[in-house]
Amino acid sequence: MEAKKRIFSGIQPTNTPHLGNYLGALANWVKLQDEYDCTYSIVDLHSITVRQDPVKLKKQINESYALLLAMGVDPDKSTVFIQSHNCNHAELSWILSCYTQFGELSRMTQFKDKSAKHPENINAGLFTYPVLMAADILAYQADLVPVGIDQKQHLELARNIAQRFNQIYGDVFTMPDAYIPKTGAKVMSLQDPTKKMSKSDENPNASISVLDDRDTIIRKFKRAVTDSDTEVAYREGKDGINNLMSIYSAVTDKTFEEIEKEFAGKGYGDFKLAVGEATADRLAPMQSEFARIIADKAYIQECMKKGAEKAFKTTRKTIQKVYKKVGFLTL
Ligand code: TYM
Repeated sequence: MEAKKRIFSGIQPTNTPHLGNYLGALANWVKLQDEYDCTYSIVDLHSITVRQDPVKLKKQINESYALLLAMGVDPDKSTVFIQSHNCNHAELSWILSCYTQFGELSRMTQFKDKSAKHPENINAGLFTYPVLMAADILAYQADLVPVGIDQKQHLELARNIAQRFNQIYGDVFTMPDAYIPKTGAKVMSLQDPTKKMSKSDENPNASISVLDDRDTIIRKFKRAVTDSDTEVAYREGKDGINNLMSIYSAVTDKTFEEIEKEFAGKGYGDFKLAVGEATADRLAPMQSEFARIIADKAYIQECMKKGAEKAFKTTRKTIQKVYKKVGFLTL
């Protein structure tokens, strides 16, 4: 029997995941579990490039992990773990940083954006963040990486690093491809639909948390910024409506054509309400499952431990291969 292809992906535990994280990445994590050998991580090492409150971070890591389980990521089928529980990520990251150019990292748009946003804390970790992300992916020899569009540039860098390393030392790393969904790959802010929905947005009406209750979800969609037109149609210049149509399509599986037909002759009010209700319906099962799982501390601990052990074992093989290739002495 042919071995299943491998998948790796991660999410930062900064704040509760939002609808963009869910539609852009997490929903696919769940879907791909039967067909692939999947590893999913709460990437806490990545999250400290921006200053974190330790008490809040600890809570967020635990909740983000429980949310993955609540969503349907199955710890018996997939490897689900916390990044800092597997030291191989940081180890491989150092090696790979010696095969990554300063110029390449300087061109990363996320680095440029984040350093503009936090001019008081442009730390070395923020700069080398994409190398750690490359290490995450390459340590598992991942074939596919389910992410939203905003991570495409980082993935390209991971491929470049892998290719460079392989050119010098032979076939060490599998070349990973991005797996980006057709709809939901870039969910925009509900308050400024030219900007992506983001965990760090200060306006709470700009994003939907996956744990927002039904009334909050409906109210936020009602307040979503649209345009002065009245037609529910996917067209250039209608950024707000285009975003709502993409969300509605992603949560209901309806095509844009079907959506335009459904709302022909109706106003934006009806449409916004439908998007809110459909989104709330989609998130409801995960929310009740989350309430159950978060109360079961022993179960969460057991899953974290099992996940970390599996993750360590898989990645140690890669580290050993890499150490041998670069010429380190084995004991
Ligand atoms: P993070 O934590 O910012 O986001 C997690 C996932 O959500 C996707 N995403 C979006 N998708 C659609 N619309 C949006 N508005 C939106 N915002 C975020 C992201 O593309 C991502 O897939 N660097 C990564 C975490 C990471 C990682 C990895 C991912 C670390 N190592 C290895 C894949 C493989 C990040 O900050 O994602």
